[in-house]
Amino acid sequence: MNKHGSRIQPAKGKLGVLLPGMGAVTSTFIAGVELVKKGLGTPVGSVTQMQAIRLGKRYENRSPLIKDFVPLASLDQLVFGGWDFFTDDMFVAATKCGVLDAAQLAPIKKELSAIKPMPAIYDPAYIKNIKALNPKKGKTKMDLAQQVMADIEAFKKKNGCDRVVMLWCGSTERLPEPSKCHEDIEALEQGLRDNDPSIPPSMIYAYAAIKLGMAYGNGAPNLSGDVPALVELAEQTGSPICGKDFKTGQTLMKTTIAPMLKARMLALTGWYSTNILGNRDGEVLDDPGSFKTKELSKMSVLDTILEPELYPELYGKFHHKVRIDYYPPRGDAKEGWDNIDIRGWMDMPMQIKINFLCRDSILAAQIVLDLVLFLDLAKRADLKGIQEWLSFFFKSPQCREDLKPEHDLFIQHLKLKNTLRVLMGEEVLDHSGLDYYDPTKTASAAPAPRPAPKKAKLAKAGR
Ligand SMILES: NC(=O)c1ccc[n+]([C@@H]2O[C@H](COP(=O)([O-])OP(=O)(O)OC[C@H]3O[C@@H](n4cnc5c(N)ncnc54)[C@H](O)[C@@H]3O)[C@@H](O)[C@H]2O)c1
Repeated sequence: MNKHGSRIQPAKGKLGVLLPGMGAVTSTFIAGVELVKKGLGTPVGSVTQMQAIRLGKRYENRSPLIKDFVPLASLDQLVFGGWDFFTDDMFVAATKCGVLDAAQLAPIKKELSAIKPMPAIYDPAYIKNIKALNPKKGKTKMDLAQQVMADIEAFKKKNGCDRVVMLWCGSTERLPEPSKCHEDIEALEQGLRDNDPSIPPSMIYAYAAIKLGMAYGNGAPNLSGDVPALVELAEQTGSPICGKDFKTGQTLMKTTIAPMLKARMLALTGWYSTNILGNRDGEVLDDPGSFKTKELSKMSVLDTILEPELYPELYGKFHHKVRIDYYPPRGDAKEGWDNIDIRGWMDMPMQIKINFLCRDSILAAQIVLDLVLFLDLAKRADLKGIQEWLSFFFKSPQCREDLKPEHDLFIQHLKLKNTLRVLMGEEVLDHSGLDYYDPTKTASAAPAPRPAPKKAKLAKAGR
């Protein structure tokens, strides 16, 4: 038990990582972990593997790596599995997706070839542009949920896992019609038995995981676990849950630039964002139903960051447009353009242009790793229900229904680190720093204040 009363179970034994959807992001994530384990790659971008966290006062010089500060599972403890309606093993999938090159994949061929997708839940009403080769068969959606639960138990047993985490890395589904069966758990379970059309596949996986008390996250904008029925179930079964939609390319930029505009009270006239993308995700998003889900997820961030209700002259009437175009020659190498029309002093117009030549899965794989490890930490720390501190990783952070989500990347980052401090019984940092200059509050361990520079010296330096 640490000094804030939080008891975190140790990360012992194997951690099963189960991923519905084993395409570009999943295969790039697993390949990266295997390369790091062999000392053949660096987990660049991963907060859990590379980032340090400051503890205490600045003069204490305590900044351990996050992975040395909180008890996370190590990469050697992870075992991978998942579902897809493509039958390719992870070596074939990674080769076809072409995110990492053949020379990178060669030394891990054996490990990747051993990971094969289990048959998946397929519902053509929710995903167009894909033909299922490996679908599950079941009379009702409840049958399918039970098959997923049986798969999880069998995977756990076969691999001797101590715990299992599920993270949706499947395609973007169209949004279901709002339905009573999303409202509470009895209604959802009845809906599963009645094959209610408003229950998409990702919600069935989420139900299965949460029913078993597992941690569940959602990397797509699908509704999935973000309905009152599943939040209620998560609280009952002790599942930590989070989502939605990994924050990677353009939205990562947007939630970095928009807080700067607001902090400096620069006005926004318009923000036009467009992407070209040629991977399978791009092909699925070419369907208007799936695109609508993604568009909603990408559009919501500006209003919540800029708060037009507080600043009507600055942000009351900006024009926001988001486009994604499927352009096969680019594959996973996505290109995002942003044209931002802003106004400064005396309303004078200015522009910012961003051309982000990124790689879709190269920005998502490390988020999968961080979420898997933090969700497992949350479960061992007995945190249940919505994990808002993980908003940092998402475009549409899941939060309590009556709250506004937090989109500002820098506030999300503080929230993440302060939650880790709280979990480990360390002081939360408010960064006001006033006490450094208050002799009545400065701890005796603090170094003596530096002597003021001599006037003569300042004069000589021309200051
Ligand atoms: N930068 C990024 O790559 C990024 C950022 C944010 C969100 N996402 C989301 O992550 C998801 C994965 O992206 P990706 O590039 O790996 O896509 P992908 O198309 O390469 O892989 C998705 C896989 O999910 C499978 N799938 C679809 N429905 C399924 C189901 N019901 N059960 C099991 N498998 C199913 C598909 O067959 C496919 O193999 C997408 O929803 C995407 O929008 C990706």
